[in-house]
Amino acid sequence: MNRSFQLPAYLKIAFDKMLTYLKESNEGKDKVLQQRPAEDLAKDLQLNHWIKNGGISPADFSNILAVYLENTQHMHHPKYIGHQVSVPHPMAGVAGLVNGLSNNPMGIYEMGPAAATMERTVINWLLDKVGWFKGAHWSDFSLIEGNGGGVLTNGGSMANLTALSAARSAIAPESWAEGSPKDLVVLVPAVAHYSVARAISIMGMGKNSVIPVAVDANERLRPEALLPVYEQVKASGKRVMAVVANACATSTGLYDPLDEVGHFCETNNLWYHVDGAHGAAALVSPEESGLMKGANRADSMIWDAHKMLQVNALCAAILYKDQQHMGAAFQQKGAYLFHEKEQPGFDLMPYTIECTKSGLGAKLFWTLAAEGEKGMGKFVHQQYQKTKEFHQLFSAHPDFYCPYIPESNIICFAYTKHGEDNDIQLAIRNEIIKRGNFYISSTEVQGRRYLRLTVMNKLTTSAHIDALIQEIILVGKKITKGSGNK
Ligand SMILES: Cc1ncc(COP(=O)(O)O)c(C=O)c1O
Repeated sequence: MNRSFQLPAYLKIAFDKMLTYLKESNEGKDKVLQQRPAEDLAKDLQLNHWIKNGGISPADFSNILAVYLENTQHMHHPKYIGHQVSVPHPMAGVAGLVNGLSNNPMGIYEMGPAAATMERTVINWLLDKVGWFKGAHWSDFSLIEGNGGGVLTNGGSMANLTALSAARSAIAPESWAEGSPKDLVVLVPAVAHYSVARAISIMGMGKNSVIPVAVDANERLRPEALLPVYEQVKASGKRVMAVVANACATSTGLYDPLDEVGHFCETNNLWYHVDGAHGAAALVSPEESGLMKGANRADSMIWDAHKMLQVNALCAAILYKDQQHMGAAFQQKGAYLFHEKEQPGFDLMPYTIECTKSGLGAKLFWTLAAEGEKGMGKFVHQQYQKTKEFHQLFSAHPDFYCPYIPESNIICFAYTKHGEDNDIQLAIRNEIIKRGNFYISSTEVQGRRYLRLTVMNKLTTSAHIDALIQEIILVGKKITKGSGNK
């Protein structure tokens, strides 16, 4: 390290600026987002200069950081109601600082014993929520027969790939050495997150191996559609590698009938994978856990802590009902080897795609240490309940249409005053984002375009949604006047 580097000075600047940033964001000061051209930003951030010359002083750091923070997506702003990314708990941010400065790549135990221990403990906590943990307490690492297992990875997309790789090893163990057999398919809700199809293609199975299962008008898997598809697949000489269900769907936030899918998989002896990236968090709330009924019938599940568990990106869990399947995902090491070495601890590296793996579990641990599991459950419940209240505001308004009552914290609606044209919804979203007062998203449900909110922020209230309604009406008028629509 450059000897003249004055860490305390930079820390103090970052610390002061972040405190002000969080305070002002929480108070809803200024815009949620301002998007300037990247060329202008690169200039203001003096990127080329600093890369070439280095030696940034505390004063320059302060100036550049100010520009940086001005040009962030303000996730802590109560009018940030966009995507399914957490508004991180401040403690997760502190954990990020500790991780960033200590940098313990704990995929092998000796490279970060404390971080590795935290990861296994929070994995056991997550397994316990699903009903797959048999230990005496969450830091019970003894090898118990029939216990669940799991590991953290950098995101739900990687987690889906890992779990599906384990599913393939279960039905076709030879595939690791010989490549994928040509007769494997996966039954996937027609609206599954794209990372599922992407994983299957990455695995060399080809996207034609993704067999869509019909969903209803609100994009929930229709369980009665499973058997006919399964029969058809069998008749064509194919084998089903896995059945996937959403908990919940990315577009609508609605939960697939997990119990019924579980029953189908058990009856037909099929690997059942639950994509709980967003909605598995319901398991933490006694009031909402019923939404996940039947999830414990699965063989594998993914769960993103960087969505509804208030952890900053990324921190995703792959959970297995049977720990034996963990080692099979990447057969370069065949078994569950936690205790095969003379040194203390366990190595997580055999079970993830990553070789150098950061201390993801520490971020979840420190967040839980601040909130406790009860606090976390309360957070999930509040966000889910609040979203139902917001739904009432939209559905009570004559110019808005909501296709369904939300189950989670995702809500879709259309502004119908000027017609049902999909382009109007998109144009409204674009204009709202340009104005920067709110950040919202948009999705298609069965071919119809909707505006979409994901209520991630604790501070978003009905008053903010009332203001959003007024802004949409204003923007709607402006757009339709411009395009000649009535
Ligand atoms: C249902 C579902 N699965 C998987 C993912 C992918 O997760 P990640 O963004 O962490 O890769 C998402 C992301 O939104 C999702 O909604």
